Amino acid sequence: MTTPQQTLRKTRILLLIGGGIAAYKCLDLIRRLRERGASVRCVMTRAAQEFITPLSVGALSADHVFTDLFDRQDEHDVGHIRLSREADLLVVAPATADLMAKLATGQANDLASTVLLATDKPVLMAPAMNPHMWEHPATQRNARTLREDGVHFVGPNRGEMAESGEAGEGRMAEPLEIVAAIETLLDTGEKPLAGRKVIVTSGPTHEVIDPVRYIANRSSGKQGHAIAAALAHLGASVHLVSGPVSIPDPQGVTTTHVETARQMREAVEAALPADAGVFVAAVADWRPAVETAEKIKKKQGEGAPMLELTENPDILAGVGHHEKRPALVIGFAAETQDLFKNARAKLNKKGADIIVANDVSHDSGVGPGGVMGGDRNSVVIVSQDGHDEWPEMGKDDVAERLAQLIADRLGPKE
Ligand SMILES: Cc1cc2nc3c(=O)[nH]c(=O)nc-3n(C[C@H](O)[C@H](O)[C@H](O)COP(=O)(O)O)c2cc1C
Repeated sequence: MTTPQQTLRKTRILLLIGGGIAAYKCLDLIRRLRERGASVRCVMTRAAQEFITPLSVGALSADHVFTDLFDRQDEHDVGHIRLSREADLLVVAPATADLMAKLATGQANDLASTVLLATDKPVLMAPAMNPHMWEHPATQRNARTLREDGVHFVGPNRGEMAESGEAGEGRMAEPLEIVAAIETLLDTGEKPLAGRKVIVTSGPTHEVIDPVRYIANRSSGKQGHAIAAALAHLGASVHLVSGPVSIPDPQGVTTTHVETARQMREAVEAALPADAGVFVAAVADWRPAVETAEKIKKKQGEGAPMLELTENPDILAGVGHHEKRPALVIGFAAETQDLFKNARAKLNKKGADIIVANDVSHDSGVGPGGVMGGDRNSVVIVSQDGHDEWPEMGKDDVAERLAQLIADRLGPKE
């Protein structure tokens, strides 16, 4: 595993954890902050302790976890004031509707709300709640008030809620988005891709059979979206062209939504020129030769209709040989056999500088969900110089490492 750049070195973060289901994401957030050099001290509300334990928070933050306003040991030197004084930034994640309401109305009846009212440091909130709670006029009023009072926000995102069947705005921003918001706020992160434009494609394509049916594949868009976010994080201006996915648009990225391979090619060509292109989308190789305007009817006794297929445009090869070809062209290749051989052949055929090959066969061993749709990936970076096998890691980690590789390849902007 590579260690991320120490973008938060010597930064002291006071993380206030509220009582919501998204509290579990804080454990990852603490890890992400610490591996960037930040020290993280945590306050947990009473409700937060119903979701995760001070024991795990303390183990990850390597510090005492503060839970009680009237803790004798912490309070003899006015702990709530000290906690704020010894931090550079306060982060509330998840920011519950309740914590937002308390701060918006100046209440201070537990340690977290008292620290928030007593601080003179910047405050960043990452709200997380059921979409109805978020959309409620009271919560919206509180969010407005808090913004006017100078509180910063990251998210909430649109997407599926932990409660089954619920979707909408209210999902907490992902840990790396919160990290990026912190870096922007403190203006710390190094931006080796500042001034660079990168096009990224992500997700599957849907190829229309008739108004209700289409051909698709299992791609979730997780890897492509993570790469877009990681590139933006390093300062690139990112244009993401996404097929139909159920995950939120990454923050700080311009996203164009498309459905078919032909629409994706058009959107990519419209986004040229660029310094680099990363083609992660699982573009359908074929589409139905005829797109039927009416729903194909099932007729008794006639059997199944024949579906004639025709080839889709090859977006990667199109850009690899384009007159406005980016200086760096990277393609993803999902393979189920002969990984290296196929990836090397693709390098030349597609005019790419790098092929990121991933084994998407069911026995490739990256855990539940497999590579397609899952959260982990195991890739081989194939270029003219040879190949580099990366260990299995989370898709966010693959994204960060690839973004750094792109920054190294492009070098600083003249
Ligand atoms: C299972 C469960 C999940 C909850 N999830 C959330 C949530 O995501 N966001 C939220 O604002 N409140 C949520 N609540 C309600 C809060 O826990 C409740 O308002 C609590 O008083 C918040 O306390 P705190 O703001 O001090 O952490 C949830 C409650 C339960 C029982």
